[in-house]
Amino acid sequence: MNSLLDLEKLDAQVRHADLIKEIRRHDEAYYQQDAPTVSDAEYDKLRKELEDIESKYPDLITKDSPTQSVGAAPSKGFKKVKHTIPMLSLSNVFSEEEVEDFLTRIRRFLGLAEDEPIEIVAEPKIDGLSCSLRYENRKLVQAATRGDGTEGEDITANVKTIKDVPQTLPDDAPDILEVRGEIYMARADFTTLNSAQEAAGKPVFANPRNAAAGSVRQLDPKITAQRPLKFFGYALGQVSAPFGQTHFEIREKLAKWGIPETSFKLCSSLQNITDHYEEILKTRTDLDYDIDGVVYKVNRLDYQERLGFVSRSPRWATAHKFPAEQAITRLKAIDIQVGRTGALTPVARLEPITVGGVVVSNATLHNEDEIKRKDVRVGDYVVIQRAGDVIPQVVKVLEEKREGNLPEYEFPDHCPACGSLAIREGDDVVTRCTGGLICPAQAAQRLKHFVSRLAFDIEGLGAKIIEQFYEEGLIQSPADIFKLEERNAALETPIREREGWGELSEKNLFDSIRARQKIAFNRFIYALGIRQVGEATAKRLAATYGDLQNLKTMMAAAQNHESEAYAELLNIEDIGPAVADDLLGFFAEEHNRAVLKDLEDLLEIAPYQAPQIGDSPVAGKTVVFTGALTTMTRPEAKASAEKHGAKVAGSVSKKTDYVVAGQDAGSKLKKAKDLNIEVLSEEEWNALISG
Ligand code: IVH
Repeated sequence: MNSLLDLEKLDAQVRHADLIKEIRRHDEAYYQQDAPTVSDAEYDKLRKELEDIESKYPDLITKDSPTQSVGAAPSKGFKKVKHTIPMLSLSNVFSEEEVEDFLTRIRRFLGLAEDEPIEIVAEPKIDGLSCSLRYENRKLVQAATRGDGTEGEDITANVKTIKDVPQTLPDDAPDILEVRGEIYMARADFTTLNSAQEAAGKPVFANPRNAAAGSVRQLDPKITAQRPLKFFGYALGQVSAPFGQTHFEIREKLAKWGIPETSFKLCSSLQNITDHYEEILKTRTDLDYDIDGVVYKVNRLDYQERLGFVSRSPRWATAHKFPAEQAITRLKAIDIQVGRTGALTPVARLEPITVGGVVVSNATLHNEDEIKRKDVRVGDYVVIQRAGDVIPQVVKVLEEKREGNLPEYEFPDHCPACGSLAIREGDDVVTRCTGGLICPAQAAQRLKHFVSRLAFDIEGLGAKIIEQFYEEGLIQSPADIFKLEERNAALETPIREREGWGELSEKNLFDSIRARQKIAFNRFIYALGIRQVGEATAKRLAATYGDLQNLKTMMAAAQNHESEAYAELLNIEDIGPAVADDLLGFFAEEHNRAVLKDLEDLLEIAPYQAPQIGDSPVAGKTVVFTGALTTMTRPEAKASAEKHGAKVAGSVSKKTDYVVAGQDAGSKLKKAKDLNIEVLSEEEWNALISG
């Protein structure tokens, strides 16, 4: 009897191993090659057989069995798509004054008189996720998410299931047309979906935006097809032939071609704009979808072209956000978080409460002074507020509701993560840990920043995993990331054998790490996480210094504040003495230089390439504008020079290639002549950049 059972089990064991192999093969074909090798029914049968064997012989269950993988099958996710024209985000304004400033800046940039009307189109800001639809010869050929703005994810198969999105366009649409817009879920559909999720014992979504994002990001388009997604178009990407001179005309054309659109209104004065804003604010609950503000766009496309962009947002548009929503709840505790630069940030732990449709259980308390000023004490009732995607904040304490004698909060003078002294320097409001790299919180936060989306963007190496690997000692410094594969081979329990992992996800992780061993110089600088060096500053540094070797040399030289290297550093836009201090401080530290050295040995850091201006004769040159310009304003001159890949400096030095002299140019012109630098008139400069 016993031997018979064993024989049966032996059979089962063999079949079990075969099934695993077969199912894995199908998974790869389906998820990675987008080419299924069996019908769904056959596939389900195989999985059912596997489950049956495992329920009969539970000891056959291994970690790498397909029955043990969480959620959908393991997958590399979506293909990446490079955007032909970057997908940008919007700056925000919150008040009428800020709207006025927005208009004033535009007039100033364009050199228009103060009272010259500017037409603005106002339209609702839909709370969904942005998507770019590409039509070639009037057929929908591609849909992509925004991603980091330069590169998104290919979600074509999923978007093709959205009924709202036309698959073809009429004959009069241009050969190439990219429509940018928002994928969203209507409120009523969201409620229905959540009820169904709940009934099926599946997790519910926090709000329509999350539901839309979760549905679009399904690897299986069949699931997306069952989700009630919709689309609104509101802007253009690449087009083969212009079809309007204003944003208003563009919107009309898109609507005519069947692209679903929100309302849009032409406004010609500040009064007009704010009246319309109030109107939308009042009636927003009548809409069937969530909006979180009103977007203002300069109507004339030639103005838009001249205005261009700053960093990640257009100068010609902004979002007027709706006021924040508030709620009252109780403060359970104050925890201190240590950031990657050592800043100690107090975080309010709250009794969970819904604010504007989102459950909030944490809010920021900013710093020690803020806690003192508001006299926040643990146990208090507090007003919290949430605006858009900003971190919720504690606005004030309801002192009348304070019960008993709550003690005042005492801000720690030691780092909760490493025990080092925490201090405030000068008039800094921030308390910082002095532990530097010996502080695990700083090190782990730095690593998280290092792999984040705008930095190395390593798929499969999220914050949680970094933390785990850090604690285990597997990844302690950035360079360790690139040694992970080698280290893993020597581990007793390699990554693939851990909970939540499998062979495929391990392979994917190493693939994506290897893919990032070649990195653009500006991303590399940003990844270092130097204080005050954000994405835009990193780009400027990359553009100025070209490659890492040169950056290191120049930073060493600039340690001397009398040097020309220091002057050159301060000459870079947005770099003042404070940012320069942080930068130089970083490069002065021995351990930071060691990190750089390690990385250099493991990576290929591609020297900076000025964007889309390869053939411009001014690309890579340094130009100084001086005197009064007549055909353009100073900011416009600067922006257009940068658009063509030139660097704009504030003062003339040996490194200057051109000085553009307007009327009444003075000392800079003289210095240019002394240094034998080419001097151009405004007309000559314009001729040069227009090729
Ligand atoms: S225009 C260059 N118009 O808001 C122009 N964006 O916070 C960029 N959004 O990334 C976008 N409604 O996803 C524009 N009517 C609207 C919008 C809108 C929602 C989103 C969009 C954008 C984000 C910026």
